[in-house]
Amino acid sequence: MRKESRLVRWIWWIVVVTALFFLGFVIGWFSRPTHPNTENHKPSSKYLKEFLDEMQTEKIREHLRKFTHLPHLAGTEQNLKYAEQIKNEWQEFGLDSVEMVPYDVLLSYPNKSQPNYISIVDHIGNEVFKTSLAEPVPQGYEDIPNIVPPYSAFSAKGQPEGDLVYVNYGRTEDFFQLERQMGINVTGKIVIVRYGKIFRGNKVKNAILAGAKGIIMFSDPADYWAAEVQPYPDGWNLPGGGAQRGNVLNLNGAGDPLTPGYPAKEYTHRFSLEDGVGLPKIPVHPIGFHDAIHLNMGGEIPPNNWKGALNVSYMIGPGFTDDFKSQKVRMNIYTNNQVTRIYNVIGRIRGALEPDRYVILGGHRDAWVFGGIDPMSGAAVVHETVRSAGRLLSKGWKPRRTIIFASWDAEEFGLLGSTEWAEDNAKLLQERAVAYINADSAIEGMYTLRVDCTPSLHTLVYDLTKQVGRFKHTTETETCKYFFMNSLMLNSFSALISKLGSGSDFEAYFIRLGIAAGRARYTKNKKTERYSSYPVYHSVYETFEIVEKFYDPSFRRLRAVAQVRGGLIFLLADSQLLPLDVNQYADSLRKYAQSIAQLAQKNPNEMETYGVSFDSLFSAVENFTVAATDFHERLEILNTVRIMNDQLMYLERAFIDPLGLPGRPFYRHVIFAPSSHNKYAGESFPGIYDALFDIENSADPEKAWEEVKRQISIAAFTVNAAAMTLTPPA
Ligand SMILES: *[C@@H]1O[C@H](CO)[C@@H](O)[C@H](O)[C@H]1NC(C)=O
Ligand SMILES: *[C@@H]1O[C@H](CO)[C@@H](O)[C@H](O)[C@H]1NC(C)=O
Ligand SMILES: *[C@@H]1O[C@H](CO)[C@@H](O)[C@H](O)[C@H]1NC(C)=O
Ligand SMILES: *[C@@H]1O[C@H](CO)[C@@H](O)[C@H](O)[C@H]1NC(C)=O
Ligand SMILES: [Zn+2]
Repeated sequence: MRKESRLVRWIWWIVVVTALFFLGFVIGWFSRPTHPNTENHKPSSKYLKEFLDEMQTEKIREHLRKFTHLPHLAGTEQNLKYAEQIKNEWQEFGLDSVEMVPYDVLLSYPNKSQPNYISIVDHIGNEVFKTSLAEPVPQGYEDIPNIVPPYSAFSAKGQPEGDLVYVNYGRTEDFFQLERQMGINVTGKIVIVRYGKIFRGNKVKNAILAGAKGIIMFSDPADYWAAEVQPYPDGWNLPGGGAQRGNVLNLNGAGDPLTPGYPAKEYTHRFSLEDGVGLPKIPVHPIGFHDAIHLNMGGEIPPNNWKGALNVSYMIGPGFTDDFKSQKVRMNIYTNNQVTRIYNVIGRIRGALEPDRYVILGGHRDAWVFGGIDPMSGAAVVHETVRSAGRLLSKGWKPRRTIIFASWDAEEFGLLGSTEWAEDNAKLLQERAVAYINADSAIEGMYTLRVDCTPSLHTLVYDLTKQVGRFKHTTETETCKYFFMNSLMLNSFSALISKLGSGSDFEAYFIRLGIAAGRARYTKNKKTERYSSYPVYHSVYETFEIVEKFYDPSFRRLRAVAQVRGGLIFLLADSQLLPLDVNQYADSLRKYAQSIAQLAQKNPNEMETYGVSFDSLFSAVENFTVAATDFHERLEILNTVRIMNDQLMYLERAFIDPLGLPGRPFYRHVIFAPSSHNKYAGESFPGIYDALFDIENSADPEKAWEEVKRQISIAAFTVNAAAMTLTPPA
C-alpha cells in the first residue's frame, strides 16, 4: 500500500516534470526572436524600464537647485567647486571611475575696475549718454558677488567712435541688401544689429567683412518677447535692462583659439594672440532695449521687415537724426583675453563585454551667470541619469559597452572643454566611439520634445520615444504628443527630426571626428512662437526660479528629456546589435542630393555652359542605397555581430574628409556642417552649398563653377566610399 502510493507519486513527478519541460520548450520556441535585427532595436533588457522609472522629478529639481545657487562662469573658483561636487557625487552614485581633466585655454573677461559701455558723445567729446553697466539683479540675488556684466567674450579692446549704421539681424542677406540695394558702405562705421536668427559670431564676422570698426548687438522685444507674457520675474520674457552675453568667435570647430588641432596641455605650443583662431579684430558689445531706444537713428528709411517692436523709427543711418547730427557713438571696451585653467569631469562605467566601445553622454557645466536653463537644466538631467545608472549597477546590471559621462567646461567660450578632450582622445575615439549624445539646456520651451541627430539614429529615436510614451505612469502623456501624432510611420517621423548644426558640444565629435551624434530637449511651438532661442537666454534672469515657476513646475518635462537622453545611451550601450539604421542614412542622402541639385538648377544656363552635372552624386547615392539595403538584409540572417557592429559604427566615420571643407579644416563631415552663415544651423552637402552660394554675383563664374564641379566630385566619391564600407568583407 505505501509502496504503491510512492510509485504513484514518482509517476506523477515524472509526468509533471516532463510536461513542464515540454511547456518550457514550446514557450521558448514560439517566443524566440524571429528577426534578431528588429528584436535588437527593442529595449535589450528588462533593465531599461527600471533605468527610466528610477529617474525622479523631485531629484532633478534638487540637482538643479543645488547647482544654480551661485554664478559659475568658466575659469572661476565656483565652477571648479561645482566640478568637484559633481565628481564626488558621481563617485557616490557608483560609477567605476571619475576623473577631473584640466586644460589651459584662452578665455575672456571684462576688466573689473574698468567696465565696458557704449556712450553718445557730443561735438566736443562730452558723453551725453552711457549704457548701463549691469543688468538689474533679480530679487533674492542682490548680494551675490561675481555676476559678470553683459559682454561679448573675446571682443577686441578699443574705443572706436563714429556714425552708426543699422543692419537688421546682421545676416549675410542683410549686408547684401544694405550694400547692393541701399548702396550704404559701412567702412569705418560702427554697425548695430539686433540679436536673433543666427549665431552672434556670424554677425560679427559679417560686420568685419563689410569694413565696420565696431559692432553693437541689442535684444529687440520682437525677437525676445513671447506674446502675452510678462517680463521676469512676473513672467519669462526678457526685461528691458536684460542683455545677452556670449562669445563672438569664428572658430569653425578649432576649440581653444591658441592650440587648434591639439589639446591645450601645459606643454602644448600656443599661438600668439594675433595668430589665434577666430578672434575678432573689432570691439563688440551687447545692450538691452532700454539702452537701444536712446540711439536717435537718422538717415535712410528701412524696409518693413527690418523693423522690430520698439517705439522707435528703426532708421538705418548712417548717423543720427538732424537734431543730433553732431553726436557720435563711442564704444568703450576693455575686455581681456587670458589663458585660464578649465576642468572637465569624466565618469565611466566599464563595458562588461565590449569595454573597447564607447557611448558618450556629455553636456556643459559652465554658465554665464546662474545657468538656470543653460546649461544646468541639462546638467541636472545628466546628474539624474548618472544616479539612475548607479542604482542599476547596484542591482547587478552591467552595460555591454563602456559608458562615458562628461561634464564639460568652457562651452560658452567656444565649446572649449569638449573640443580639447576630443583632441586629447582623438585616436581612441576614432577607433572606439559608437555614439555621442549631447546634453545642453534640457528645456527652451514648454510645447514638445525636439531631437536633432544623425540619420542613422532616426529609428532608435522613433522606437525609444514610443517606448518612453508607453510608461504613462512615469511620463506626462503630452511629453511626446507631437512625436506620437506624427510617429505612425517612421518616414514621416524622420521629417520631424532636424539636422545637427552646431552651437553645442557635440560639434567636435560629429563634425570633426565622424561619430554618430544626437541631442534632445524640450522646445517651443515653432509655428506660433516666433522669438529667438528663449527670451532670457544668457541673461542674469536664467535662475532656478524661472524653471520652477514657469518652464517646468512639475519637473516632468525635464524627466522626459532625461528619459530620452538616458534611453538613447542605454540602448546604444546595451543592445547586442547596434541600433543604428543605415537605410535611414540612404533616405536622407537622397533627399539632400535632390535638394542641392535643385539649388544648382536655379542657374540652368551656367550648368550647361560649364558642364556641371550631379549624375556622379546620384550614382553614389544609388550605390549607397543598394549597399544599405543589402546590409540590413544580411543583418537579418547573419551572426557576425561584431563585424557588422563595426561597420555600423564606422559608417559615420566614412563621411569624414581628412582635408576638411574649404577654409574650415576642422569641419570634415562631407554630409553635414554648421552653415557658413549661421553656426547654429546645419547644412547638408556643405561643400557644394558653399560653392553655389551667391554664385550669380561671382566675379569669375568659370572658376566658381569649376569649384562646384570639384565639390560634387568630392561628395560623390565620399558617398560611394561610405557605401563600400557596408559591403561584406571580401
Ligand atoms: C584693468 O583696468 C585697470 C584700470 O584702468 C588697469 O590699471 C589694469 O591694467 C586693467 N587690467 C588689465 C588686465 O588690463
Ligand atoms: C567703401 O568705402 C571704402 C573707404 O571709403 C572704400 O575703400 C571701399 O572700396 C568702399 N566699398 C565699396 C563697396 O564701395
Ligand atoms: C511712442 O513714442 C511717442 C513719442 O515719444 C509717444 O508719443 C507714444 O506714446 C509712444 N508710444 C508707445 C506705445 O510707447
Ligand atoms: C556606383 O557603382 C557602379 C557599379 O559598381 C560604378 O560603376 C559607379 O562608378 C559607382 N558610382 C560612383 C559615383 O562611384
Ligand atoms: Zn549651453
